[in-house]
Amino acid sequence: MKNKIVCFVMAGLMAFSLVACGGKGNTPDDVGKDSKQESGSASMNVANKDKPLVWFNRQPSNSSTGELDMAALSFNDDTYYVGFDANQGAQLQGTMVKEYIEANIDKIDRNGDGVIGYVLAIGDIGHNDSIARTRGIRMALGTGVEKDGGINSDPVGTNTDGSSNMVKDGNMEIGGKNYVVRELASQEMKNSAGATWDAATAGNAIGTWSSSFGDAIDVVISNNDGMGMSMFNAWSKDNKVPTFGYDANNDAVAAIAEGYGGTISQHADVQAYLTLRVLRNALDGVDIDTGIGKEDEAGNVLSDDVYVYKADERSYYALNVAVTAENYEDYLDSTKVYGPVSAKLDEGKHATKKVWLDIYNASDNFLSSTYQPLLQNYDDLLNLDVDYIGGDGQTESNITNRLGNPGQYDAYAINMVKTDNAASYTSLLSQ
Ligand code: BGC
Repeated sequence: MKNKIVCFVMAGLMAFSLVACGGKGNTPDDVGKDSKQESGSASMNVANKDKPLVWFNRQPSNSSTGELDMAALSFNDDTYYVGFDANQGAQLQGTMVKEYIEANIDKIDRNGDGVIGYVLAIGDIGHNDSIARTRGIRMALGTGVEKDGGINSDPVGTNTDGSSNMVKDGNMEIGGKNYVVRELASQEMKNSAGATWDAATAGNAIGTWSSSFGDAIDVVISNNDGMGMSMFNAWSKDNKVPTFGYDANNDAVAAIAEGYGGTISQHADVQAYLTLRVLRNALDGVDIDTGIGKEDEAGNVLSDDVYVYKADERSYYALNVAVTAENYEDYLDSTKVYGPVSAKLDEGKHATKKVWLDIYNASDNFLSSTYQPLLQNYDDLLNLDVDYIGGDGQTESNITNRLGNPGQYDAYAINMVKTDNAASYTSLLSQ
C-alpha cells in the first residue's frame, strides 16, 4: 500500500511514470508484521492453519470453468500462489509457431497441397496452463472457434477433412499465396492410469497420427516439452517435421540444434525462487516483497520484466520468453539459479526452517527435470530444509497420506494433482 501511495503522489507531482515505481502498483506490503516464529525447528506454538502456505504450478481453480478458488488462495494471511502468466506464454507460443511457418514456407508444406496441417498434444483438459496453450495456438493460427466467451480448448480427436466444429480452418497469406491451416488431430495425453501430460502417450499418438495422415503433418505442437520431445524422438526428428513445446527443459533446448522448432521458458528459475522466497519472508515476518520487488540485505531482487504480482489473486506470475534457434544457447541449462536472486541469506539472521513440499507427479518431465532441481538449489540459499514428496500424478491421497504430521513443519508448498482439490490439503492443516 505504501509503495502505491508514494508512487501515486510522485506520479501526480512530477508526471512520473508508474513503471519507474516498479509497475506493480499492488505490491503486497506487510511491513512491520511481527516475526511469528522462533528460530530452530518447527514452531510448536503456531497452529498449522496459520503457517505459511504456497501453492505452485497448479493454481487452485475450478477445472471446468477455470474460476480461481479464492478460499484456498487466501487460506491464511501468508498464503500465495506462484506460477507464470499462462496467457502471455500461450500467446508467445502461438506467435512463435506462426512466425516459424511464415519464415519457412518454402519447405513447410510437405505434400504441397496448400494445407499446413498440424497435430496438437494436449496436457490436461482441466489445467489452466494447458487450456491457455491450446487456445494460444488456435488463436495465432486462426483455427479457434468461440465457446462460452473464449476459444474452445477441447481436443478435436481427428479432423483431417476440416469438418470439426470445435476448430475451423485458418488462412495464412504468405508471399502472395494463400494457405489453409488445419488442426488435423488433437488429443489429451492421459494414460490409462489417469496421469495427464503423459509423454509416453504422446509418443504413441504421433505413431498413430503419422501412419494415418503421413505427410499431411507439417508441424507438431505440444502443450509441453515432455510430450513434445517424446513425439520428436519417436517421429518428427527423423522426418524433419518442426516440433514445438513449452517449458525449455534442458533436453528440448538442446534439441533445437537438431531441428526441434522451439519452446517457451516459463522462467522456472524465477518461479522456484518465488515459491520458496514467499515462505522465507512469511517465516521471517518481514515485508513479503523482500528480495522480490525490494532488494534484500544480500542484494537479491527481481525486476519487473520477469514477474508480476496480482494482489486480488494472491498470485505471483513469472513472465515467459520464447526460446528458438536464435537464442537457445542462452537457455541450455534450465536448472541454473537466476543470477539476480542467487545470493545466500545469512544463516545467523535467517535460521533454518522446515518445509513440506510435494510434486504432484514424480515423473512429470518439467517438474522433475527443471523445477525440483531449481528448488533444491534455492533451498540452500534461503536456509530452508525442504522435504520433497513425489506423487504418482493420479491420486491426491497418495500425497496427502504423506502429510501425516504437519506439525513437524514450519511451512508448506503444495502442487496438487487436480486443481479442484485444494481442500484435501487445507482440511489437513485445519485439524
Ligand atoms: C508445465 C507442464 C507440466 C505441468 C504440471 C506446466 O506448467 O508446462 O510441463 O506438466 O505444468 O502441472
